[in-house]
Amino acid sequence: MSVKKIALLQGDGIGPEVMVEAVKAIKAIEKISDMKFECINAKFGASAYFECGASFPEETKAICDEADAIIKAPIGLNKEDSEKIPVEERPERGALLPLRRRYDTYANFRPIKLPKALADFSPLKPEIIGEGLDIMMIRELVGGLYFGKKDRGVNADGNRYVHEQLEYTENQIKRIMHVAFKESMGRTKVLTNIHKSNVLMSSVLWNEVLEEVAKDYPEVEVKHVIVDAAATALCLNPRQFDVMVMENMFGDILSDQGGGILGSLGLMPSACVGDEKSYYEPSHGSAPDIAGKGIANPYSTIGSVALMLEKSFDMKKEADILWSAMQKVFTDGFSTCDLTRPGMKNIGTSEFSDKVIENILAS
Ligand code: NAD
Ligand code: IPM
Ligand code: MN
Repeated sequence: MSVKKIALLQGDGIGPEVMVEAVKAIKAIEKISDMKFECINAKFGASAYFECGASFPEETKAICDEADAIIKAPIGLNKEDSEKIPVEERPERGALLPLRRRYDTYANFRPIKLPKALADFSPLKPEIIGEGLDIMMIRELVGGLYFGKKDRGVNADGNRYVHEQLEYTENQIKRIMHVAFKESMGRTKVLTNIHKSNVLMSSVLWNEVLEEVAKDYPEVEVKHVIVDAAATALCLNPRQFDVMVMENMFGDILSDQGGGILGSLGLMPSACVGDEKSYYEPSHGSAPDIAGKGIANPYSTIGSVALMLEKSFDMKKEADILWSAMQKVFTDGFSTCDLTRPGMKNIGTSEFSDKVIENILAS
């Protein structure tokens, strides 16, 4: 029997609520596998700031350094509460970006997946969903505007200014392209490159490096779509996409649109993969509007556990059991409140995962 250490970063808003459900899923997986998981809670986010003055405390860094993988719950507060924290310590800038930078988790996998049986969840017409959606968005996660130089000040004429640089090096682009091409090789061998080279020089370099890397993967067909057109295409004809690769900011926006075409951000797990360490988080935020009500959909967080099993621990079989167990809750006629439909029975956060666990143990 092997033991893996998992750091659990608690987060804000619905964060602790969905984390409890992820832990239940981890415990259920232990029962059907040879693996033991040692889960260690760690403070992270605005809650950590109010408790100990730092949104990514040193103690949490030490726990993450020691862990084999990290599950991160969403962080962040609503605008008004966020403004009670100094700008640099707000959890997005003070915790999440430093986490990504610390472990250089450059490859963010955001699956946009909806089996045909769940087509009703999508706001798109059934004929657009067809046989279902299965897109893998790959977002570069540690470059671009998010991590470029920033500067603000006041010009001599009293005009306030801000500079925010979009920075990429050739090597940063190269490594995410290899990830995307490899992912394509394991799927339909069609890779869609999202860019804006009609305006941005960063996209010109991005596309140049792509062409160079493409030579290593002659079987993969590359399609190029400009980011604004891609936003429309995701609504009108999402089935044209299989693997999509894009820079950091484009990926932030298009992946939330992915949640939109599925019917909810509650269906958006993600994996943030680095060469040395990876962490896993739902793509959605801390949903302050529903925090504390017991109605958050835990699918994105439990799905992030499934991605961890697959990517960090080579447990594809157990991951597949977890995906099926979650989907079966929906196909059995239950729905979380974000996806509610006539004829489906609404269940809360913990009821959803209790059913997932029943399904796992019955598998
Ligand atoms: P959000 O993703 O928190 O919420 C958007 C909408 O989706 C809300 O109506 C919310 O109720 C709903 N929603 C999200 N997740 C849900 C779930 N699991 N179940 C049911 N409904 C769900 O985005 P926001 O309101 O723009 O941001 C809130 C805070 O979260 C901000 O502070 C933001 O910075 C932060 N944020 C954090 C992360 C992260 O930790 N990775 C990601 C996005 C936003
Ligand atoms: C996400 C979030 C983060 C991002 C924020 C909270 C920093 O929106 O993970 O998609 O923009 O990357
Ligand atoms: Mn986002």
